[in-house]
Amino acid sequence: MAELDCITFLSHGTLESRDLEKTRAFYEQCLGMQTIRTSPVSLMIRLGGNNTIAVVQNPRKAEMPLLNHNGLDVPNREDVDRCHRVLEEGKEKWGIQKITRPADQHGTYSFYFSDLDGNWWEILTNPPGGYAWMFSQGGDLQAWGAGKDDKVNPNAFKGRGKS
Ligand SMILES: [Fe+2]
Repeated sequence: MAELDCITFLSHGTLESRDLEKTRAFYEQCLGMQTIRTSPVSLMIRLGGNNTIAVVQNPRKAEMPLLNHNGLDVPNREDVDRCHRVLEEGKEKWGIQKITRPADQHGTYSFYFSDLDGNWWEILTNPPGGYAWMFSQGGDLQAWGAGKDDKVNPNAFKGRGKS
């Protein structure tokens, strides 16, 4: 039993935005997020569940490091490629700063992009429920993304190098 056993839900994280109206348009019209304006300087966003991100305006926000990215799941590899194409084409329209090439990495197929606010996202293939499958065998995985001995990775992952 945890010391703070009254904690029941990981409800939200936070992101910063330089211009809330532009950010909101990108989240809604490009990424398909649900958004709610919660104050003149804040938004709440969610997609596919009740975990949310509070987005707070800060015109002087710093660049986000890639390792702090948030993940956006799609059903299969073809969807990853399609998202990549659409974002490449909409780079100027949406002010996207950087886009990496799709690759098989950490047990999934994905790419990363840095949006108009310098916030990093990863678009990856995952089954419904996201990374819930990682908890399905009831113990720790042997490798991040599930190595070939874990037998729980449901993704169409193509391991690199010698196997
Ligand atoms: Fe990730």
